[in-house]
Amino acid sequence: MIRVAIDGPGGTGKSTIAKAVAARFGLEYIDTGAMYRSIALKTIREGISPADESAIAEMLGTTTIDFDSGCVFLDGEDVGSLIRTNEVSMAASNVSRHACVRAKVDAVSKHLAATKSVVMEGRDIGTAVIPDAEVKIFMTAAPEIRAQRRYDQLIKAGKEADYDEIFREIQQRDYQDSHRELNPLRQADDAVYLDTSDLTIEQNIDAIADIINEKNT
Ligand code: DC
Repeated sequence: MIRVAIDGPGGTGKSTIAKAVAARFGLEYIDTGAMYRSIALKTIREGISPADESAIAEMLGTTTIDFDSGCVFLDGEDVGSLIRTNEVSMAASNVSRHACVRAKVDAVSKHLAATKSVVMEGRDIGTAVIPDAEVKIFMTAAPEIRAQRRYDQLIKAGKEADYDEIFREIQQRDYQDSHRELNPLRQADDAVYLDTSDLTIEQNIDAIADIINEKNT
């Protein structure tokens, strides 16, 4: 069993990198942010305010979240293509502060990490979900660089993008994710710090592969 925990703020390219690393080492890729995003999507669909904890708790009583073969399922529906909007990003950050939401995602994540070799990415994997992970990485990049990458991604996909708005949202989400009470984003004491500001995707994947190989020898 090897469990690789990758944490870091939004927009660092964690998903792309974690997915590629998982493929290279034949490990299961688990995106915990996708599960928070799915819960956020359901609150939007049902018109529930992200601040209304009791309504969210009630909603979760009849909600199933699964993560399988790189895909997230909300009540059995593959919602992967619906959860990458700015609206869902911010709603995910907002709902993720509630204990009932964290408990729901934690239960699924911990079960997966207990049964498989995984690359799991999120905000609190090395600190709370798999505190005894064999490999822990804290991946970050300057907010200006993350905003620029997101902007380029949207433009390339033929979508509209406003750099200043993206930058503001990144800063707001960084603040919320690292200042909430329950398991906020922070580097685990035993995590390797990786600043990806000046790395290409390939260099980033290689850097993580080196860390895994080092820990494994
Ligand atoms: O990694 P992401 O951008 O898809 O995550 C979306 C939101 O979900 C993020 O802003 C905060 C929350 N999240 C969390 O609280 N804990 C995690 N382990 C992963 C995500």
